[in-house]
Amino acid sequence: MNTTKAITSDYDVKPIQSGDLSRAIDIWSLSFGFLDRDRWSMFYDSFLDTAIGAYADDYLVTIVGITNFQMWFGDQLVPCAGVCAVASDPAHRQRGLVRKCVAAGLAESHRKRVPLTALWPFSYPFYKRMGYEVTDLQHMVELEIRSLPDLGDATTYRRLHPDHYDPLKPIHDEWIKQSSLSIKRGDLQWRRLLNHPERQICAFVHDDGYILWNIKDRTNRTLDVFEWAWNSKQAFIDGLSLLKRMDDLNFDKVRFRMGALDDLLELGVTYPVPTISVKPGLMTRVLHTDAFVELLGKKVPPFAINDPLGVSESYGDAGALSDARAMTPGEVVQVVTDFYSAKPEGVPDDLFRAVASKRNYTVEFF
Ligand SMILES: CC(C)(COP(=O)(O)OP(=O)(O)OC[C@H]1O[C@@H](n2cnc3c(N)ncnc32)[C@H](O)[C@@H]1OP(=O)(O)O)[C@@H](O)C(=O)NCCC(=O)NCCS
Repeated sequence: MNTTKAITSDYDVKPIQSGDLSRAIDIWSLSFGFLDRDRWSMFYDSFLDTAIGAYADDYLVTIVGITNFQMWFGDQLVPCAGVCAVASDPAHRQRGLVRKCVAAGLAESHRKRVPLTALWPFSYPFYKRMGYEVTDLQHMVELEIRSLPDLGDATTYRRLHPDHYDPLKPIHDEWIKQSSLSIKRGDLQWRRLLNHPERQICAFVHDDGYILWNIKDRTNRTLDVFEWAWNSKQAFIDGLSLLKRMDDLNFDKVRFRMGALDDLLELGVTYPVPTISVKPGLMTRVLHTDAFVELLGKKVPPFAINDPLGVSESYGDAGALSDARAMTPGEVVQVVTDFYSAKPEGVPDDLFRAVASKRNYTVEFF
């Protein structure tokens, strides 16, 4: 193609045609460094619900995918548009094409009255400029295996072949129900998680939990527990005893992720000192404001939204809003859920923590 022409021409933003799949895979492979074309092709066919592209003439240069999830929002499972697979051809970067494609993708989900959208960012400021905000905090815990308390029974965890993951599904469903903004996992997502090319997985299942760890990554002699679900304290304590038995030739530390630290802190692990870092998690924002307000299940006063993408509208009578502090669509989710414990200034009382019976915590990666 004529590259000079493509750089200087205008771009069209529109749904990607299936005939452009090979070109999309070229862009993804280059941008993400995963070269398995079959895996990308399967991802496009079965995982993406919408793919929006920016085209220079007829040449695809930027991609934004949308995958539709069910997300727990308090006690309700609600639709959420997940933005993913965002990538640009290097020759066409820094032209605002991602922003345009995200806006177009969200506008389509808005037409379907989808109340929420979420994503895992490569850069938090980048998506903050599109109205998203961090909505959960995650704790990465790293411990010397020898420091783990041995108060439980490791034999209550049974080894499970990852191909036979059915017993994990109800445990996972129960686990994510305990949090808000957690995402329902279907079979496709289970298979993607358990067949990840960079992992060699060991799975253990307990009556009330499961542990998945990756023995391929032995960096710093640290066992990478990439998912640990426990629905009772006993499953946590038994799991610590199981991990303690991994103090072997290959590992002397263990790393896992927690939403709340209470279960660990109650055990008083103090020496050797654990390393605990707090990381921002998922970014979320309101999409269709009226549909979102319906989920609150109560009357709330009008509130103003200032959406940098121009997709989400304010709630209620515009005339009544002239003095109100406008929030970004992401702030609205922060304000309504268990993200802030103190009310930020200018937020209506009835909106603050309107759906906050559960802590926000999301593990599903997409
Ligand atoms: C990230 C990526 C999609 C951006 O594409 P792009 O076409 O340049 O996007 P846009 O032109 O819409 O936006 C450019 C903005 O992104 C910012 N940006 C680009 N790379 C960045 C990075 N690594 N960290 C932080 N910000 C970055 C630029 O500073 C610019 O900000 P500005 O608008 O304030 O000037 C592209 O660099 C890419 O494909 N990277 C590899 C794959 C990837 O990381 N995808 C993101 C997955 S969520």
